[in-house]
Amino acid sequence: MTQVAIGSLSDFPEGTPTRVEADGTALCIVRVGDTVHAICDDCPHAEASLSEGDFLADDMAIECPLHGSAFNLTTGDPDCPPATEAVEVFTVTVDGDSVLVDI
Ligand code: FES
Repeated sequence: MTQVAIGSLSDFPEGTPTRVEADGTALCIVRVGDTVHAICDDCPHAEASLSEGDFLADDMAIECPLHGSAFNLTTGDPDCPPATEAVEVFTVTVDGDSVLVDI
């Protein structure tokens, strides 16, 4: 596992999903306050880019833009079909203003 710097806190507007490539892996990054979440950006159902979906603050989830399954940012689990598989969740460290992801 490698810790990869993906930017600074100010690169990630609060509640706005952002796609980042880190070490060859596409990530969907969502900042909530000073906490930053990272999940795999590829929806396991039909590979839509989750960073093009909406952040659902009440559920702490990202809604897939194609068919509406919402993936929890902490567990990666979808809330309903058609997606049935979880997305990978990555550990994020905020060090000062730097955001680092374990890939
Ligand atoms: S592509 Fe994401 S739910 Fe279908």
